[in-house]
Amino acid sequence: MQHITASAPGKCILFGEHAVVYGHPAVAVAIDQRINVKIELTKSSTHDWKLDGLIFDPKKHPHIEALKQRLWPTSLNAPPLSINIEGQIPTASGLGSSAALSVAASAALRAARGRWLNNSINSPENWAEGFSSRIDDTDVHSNNQPKDSIREGKLGEKVKFITGSDAVDIDECALLAHAVEAIAQGGRASPMDSSTCSHGHVVVLSDSVEEGIEWQYSRKLITPEGEREWQIHAFKPPTNEVYLVIGNTGIHAPTSKQVEKVALMLKNNPERMKEIETIGIIAKRGIKSLLNGDYESVGRAMSENQLMLQSIGVSSPELESLIQAAAPSSLGAKLTGAGGGGCMVALTRDPKTTSEAIELAGGRTIISSFGARGLTVEEATETPLWISS
Ligand code: PMV
Repeated sequence: MQHITASAPGKCILFGEHAVVYGHPAVAVAIDQRINVKIELTKSSTHDWKLDGLIFDPKKHPHIEALKQRLWPTSLNAPPLSINIEGQIPTASGLGSSAALSVAASAALRAARGRWLNNSINSPENWAEGFSSRIDDTDVHSNNQPKDSIREGKLGEKVKFITGSDAVDIDECALLAHAVEAIAQGGRASPMDSSTCSHGHVVVLSDSVEEGIEWQYSRKLITPEGEREWQIHAFKPPTNEVYLVIGNTGIHAPTSKQVEKVALMLKNNPERMKEIETIGIIAKRGIKSLLNGDYESVGRAMSENQLMLQSIGVSSPELESLIQAAAPSSLGAKLTGAGGGGCMVALTRDPKTTSEAIELAGGRTIISSFGARGLTVEEATETPLWISS
């Protein structure tokens, strides 16, 4: 059976969580654990989709539903597809599992759907539908094509159709994933997860363009609180024998509550914005060390960042105990994500020892290399799966 498979990595935050909410840079790194999405055409006589063998329920999978609507506006009639999702990223633990799913699914569905070009050159300027066909809450690249201008017959002989991996563009997948994350999360989503799961390696998100790192694009989102804009940078860190060990406390602490807690603390004590600023300074120093491949300094910056996170009240006794257990065998360790529970991350040259120490202290561990590859189309038939039956 013809099929398409795409995969995307999870992520953890190395520096800058919480301070990023106030405009400072945050650094995320892609991990080895991935989500794989496989798509096949089914022989169904109806246009129903299947997900992991069951009838697809849009309410249970808002990300997939949003992608379906975006890629197959009703006039285009989605073909009957069967989707299978597999992965090693624990859900709801701040490791980007939902973004990795959105990114991998957007690539697989785009490969299945194909793309119309206005002439023979495959570049965003020539994409007949542009980056977006429906959800216009984000804006990247210049795109001269008016939205929804496709297939009106006026493209004449110049029209070209491409499918499979040729139709997939990483920036577009990052954009699609950000848009569907926002839809699934009530209009609020930073592009941190969607960009890291798309580009892989190291991604830096900030309110301003950061000097010395390769800037990729800006991302906008109209949130319930107004428009926000982020600058996204990405780079491949110098190779080195360092690993990440992620320790999961198993305690669920919703991100929104942690963010609210910090906001309240700052409202009551405006002078404590100094601590947030310090996190921003540490993150910038950490980025420089990363670019230089100085992982000893990266580790030190992570541990300093942790002291600040502790000070603003987002750590927890369980996180502290895993961080302490990791300390003797690692270059640095800190909580990763929103805190209050969830995960910690250690940077180490001895992942086995660090992992055992964290497990002994009660954490469930994941070992990863540093800065995994991003979105990959693993297999793609070039035959269009898009033709509706
Ligand atoms: O737990 P995560 O990976 O969703 O990260 C949350 C990061 C925060 O800075 C706490 C919130 C945010 O929106 O950036």
